[in-house]
Amino acid sequence: MKTPEDFLVENGLPEVRDIDRDSLVAAFMSEMERGLKGEPSSLMMIPTFVGVDGKVPAGSKAAVLDAGGTNFRSGIVAIPPRVENRMNRPMPGARSPVDVESFYAALASEVKRVLPGATAKKIGFCFSYPAEATPDLDAKLVRWTKGIQADGVVGQYVGKELLKRLGGGEIAIVNDTVATLLAAKATEGEKTYSSYVGFILGTGTNCAYVERNTAIEKLPGLDPNGKMIINAESGSFDKAPRSKFDLAMDAKTATPGSNPFEKMISGAYLGPVGLEVLKAAAKEGFFSKAAAERVAGLSSLETMDFDNFTAGAVKEGRQNPLDEIFSARADAKMARRLSLPVFERAAVFTAVHLAAFVIKTGEGASAAAPVAINADGSTYYKTRAIQFDETVRRELDDMLVKRRNIHYEITPQVDDAPMVGAGIAAML
Ligand code: GLC
Repeated sequence: MKTPEDFLVENGLPEVRDIDRDSLVAAFMSEMERGLKGEPSSLMMIPTFVGVDGKVPAGSKAAVLDAGGTNFRSGIVAIPPRVENRMNRPMPGARSPVDVESFYAALASEVKRVLPGATAKKIGFCFSYPAEATPDLDAKLVRWTKGIQADGVVGQYVGKELLKRLGGGEIAIVNDTVATLLAAKATEGEKTYSSYVGFILGTGTNCAYVERNTAIEKLPGLDPNGKMIINAESGSFDKAPRSKFDLAMDAKTATPGSNPFEKMISGAYLGPVGLEVLKAAAKEGFFSKAAAERVAGLSSLETMDFDNFTAGAVKEGRQNPLDEIFSARADAKMARRLSLPVFERAAVFTAVHLAAFVIKTGEGASAAAPVAINADGSTYYKTRAIQFDETVRRELDDMLVKRRNIHYEITPQVDDAPMVGAGIAAML
């Protein structure tokens, strides 16, 4: 009889000890290089025109918008970092399609709500979607990710369009990875870091890091002595092997083929990948007849439920469909054994992802000045099925410190990092 592990491997979901970390890191690095040169690459490597050397003015307050995954937040960011007058609404276009006017109307109404409390001239806007940045910190939306349905906005300069509807003003738009990097940089105190990586693992995933201007060959004419933050859009990395479960899940998304790496590690997708694993395993005969029938009838699976089930945890006030499907003990045990590798792979891929960017900074040679990794996002901090953070650190200790003598530190989490960072971008 085939073991569940054999079944997963046969379908392309590896046991974590067999993941070839070195060749994945090498593939990441070469995609980064190509992207920086402007050659075809799955990584956009977007120059942001944001540096890390500015001094944040104490006492300043900025009006801030934060369009993340499914949430749209607004508030006032004050220094020392805190968020006041905050509001959280559904992201326009997340639940149902919106047209261009209603999209900007939703944004404009929040700006009007918070602007009277601001002292900074610019509005800060954390915009967590792939967008080309301009030197005056506007953002041209390349495409939507995370299932947002607002087609008319694609290709637009989001800042310019918003300001038009507000009747003027100034705005600084940054990606959430850039904002997270800035937020941790501004709160580091007396620590000495040689460089920075901003990392998000929430609904989606992505990395930003600090690059020498001379390496950004697709943008000649920059100050050769300067550095700037690059938004890699690394969720679209396409050199990591995908399993049959990933392909089946991807085919059902609104954007098949796009962001393949993100679809293996981030919060919007772990549940849906798990659903494909469990459905295929049911067909293969790994569960009782009753459970198999119930799995076949399940049409969607949220990551939160998949995670809680795999962790053996019950969430108060929330019915978990998997608890009912796998009500028999043997089924539940088997289902967990099949589910765990989905999370383990996500943690190892996360570590590979981070290792590649830390190496790319070219810093961290001394333990006295490590490269700071500023991590944010619900999937990174709230996954319960495995000890996510510990696994990532263990992997990084091996890949970076032991094997390459590169020192890193995952910095303490900064509250509301994306909003705070967008506020800082507005103040600098
Ligand atoms: C998606 C977006 C990217 C963002 C990431 C994390 O990959 O394209 O811009 O940084 O999610 O939120």
